[in-house]
Amino acid sequence: MAKFYDVGMKKTELLCLSHWRKELLGEISGDVLEIGSGTGVNLKYYPKTLNRLVLSEPDLNMRHYLSQRIDELGRDNISMIKNTAESIDLPDESFDYIVSTLVLCSVHNQLSTLKTLKRLLRPNGYFIFLEHVADEDNPKILKWQKRLEPFWKFIGGNCHLTRKTEHLIKQAGFHFIQLERTIMQDAPKFVRPIIKGIAQKHESL
Ligand SMILES: C[S@@+](CC[C@H](N)C(=O)[O-])C[C@H]1O[C@@H](n2cnc3c(N)ncnc32)[C@H](O)[C@@H]1O
Repeated sequence: MAKFYDVGMKKTELLCLSHWRKELLGEISGDVLEIGSGTGVNLKYYPKTLNRLVLSEPDLNMRHYLSQRIDELGRDNISMIKNTAESIDLPDESFDYIVSTLVLCSVHNQLSTLKTLKRLLRPNGYFIFLEHVADEDNPKILKWQKRLEPFWKFIGGNCHLTRKTEHLIKQAGFHFIQLERTIMQDAPKFVRPIIKGIAQKHESL
């Protein structure tokens, strides 16, 4: 998957993902954690002025391409860790922003992952997300997502098609500052529904 990821996603990247990455990441600041960084597609969208950028990627093959991209940038404020998102053992309240793009579909347990991310965020910290989700508005597509999910998970590194990620983000104790439901162009219909936006750590939850 790592070898073909960038090539396979090229058209979708050009049509929509690149614009969304720029919009979501272009103005963030401070200490940032990205989970499931893959080949490092997001790297070029982060401002040079970030204080610290930690990239987590559990897949060895993805890390091969990711470390090449980190080296190319030659910045000493970027580091890479091998943890899954749910097993990141950095101290509580380490980050101002946490970024997840097309990752929550693949983690083992969304709620415990999101609770870990909440623990890692500073008070009022931001969770930036761009995720493909269950098509809750279209029963016909949802039916296909359910049918295809076992196969898709098998070939796609545990990628689920029917996750209701928006509800889980709320359940984990975030509130939405910005939330958009849209579609990922040039993707199969069952991977098209997208949510993207910014959620803030809710102090009282
Ligand atoms: C579809 S790729 C997305 C890569 C990149 N974030 C992007 O926007 O193109 C999913 C990534 O999530 C990683 N991943 C899978 N399970 C994970 C987990 N439990 N914790 C963190 N990352 C995970 C995979 O190794 C892969 O790099």
